Amino acid sequence: MTTLAILTAAGSGSRLGRSIPKALVHLGGTPLVVHAARSLDRSGAVDAIVVTAPADYTEQISRLLDGDPQVDVPVTVVAGGSTRQASVAAGLAAAGEASVVLVHDAARPLAPARLVRRVVDAVQAGHGAVVPGMPLVDTVKRVAAPPLQGSGPRAESVQDTVERSGLRAVQTPQGFSHDLLTRAHAHGAARAEDQDMAASDDAGLVESLGEAVVVVRGDERAMKITTARDLEIADLLLAEDE
Ligand code: CTP
Ligand code: MG
Repeated sequence: MTTLAILTAAGSGSRLGRSIPKALVHLGGTPLVVHAARSLDRSGAVDAIVVTAPADYTEQISRLLDGDPQVDVPVTVVAGGSTRQASVAAGLAAAGEASVVLVHDAARPLAPARLVRRVVDAVQAGHGAVVPGMPLVDTVKRVAAPPLQGSGPRAESVQDTVERSGLRAVQTPQGFSHDLLTRAHAHGAARAEDQDMAASDDAGLVESLGEAVVVVRGDERAMKITTARDLEIADLLLAEDE
């Protein structure tokens, strides 16, 4: 079975607040997108990578990955879209023949190779859509809008405490059969046009088709880098390896 990975790197990283796209920000001297591509390659479960890049950075990212000695699989770089969903769709359109497609965020540079293999294994075992998920550590409350009025700090009223044992925070890479992901994106594109609504993950598009999605164990190291503080935490995780 051929496995293709779409590596999403077309975001600007507005919450990180740097002058360059987040995927090019360095962690331990290496850009995030290079870390992520290395881990996909190291898994031994991925045959090719399609990277979605900001339109002005396709050549730079292509040079970085082509020149990296730890990325041996063929890499194609395409311009992403204005939402993550549109970027994945652009990656999918550029994808060659594949029976399994992974979608992975460059913003999760330390996702371990063993996590990549776990997801691919589950798809190869017959699950059409697979996401890694982590149990929640905090107690979770549902709150109601509008916020309560009055003096003091802005407050919201609690509706109830959500039973967290049945909740998972999901990560990437997410894995799919090629056919199911293609159908999900076709459906998602129509919906996005209709309701100006883009999905924040690909499994969500599969769910809205009414198809099954399964969760496998996630990994702490697959944390997403959103803010400057996340980058500091990732630095600590990276230092654990050395
Ligand atoms: N992404 C993408 N195309 C977009 C938006 C996001 O390929 N139009 C990618 C990002 O590069 C990232 C992943 O999707 O690897 C997850 O998105 P997020 O963490 O939100 O990254 P950014 O959108 O870059 O960050 P921000 O939302 O803070 O601007
Ligand atoms: Mg974003």
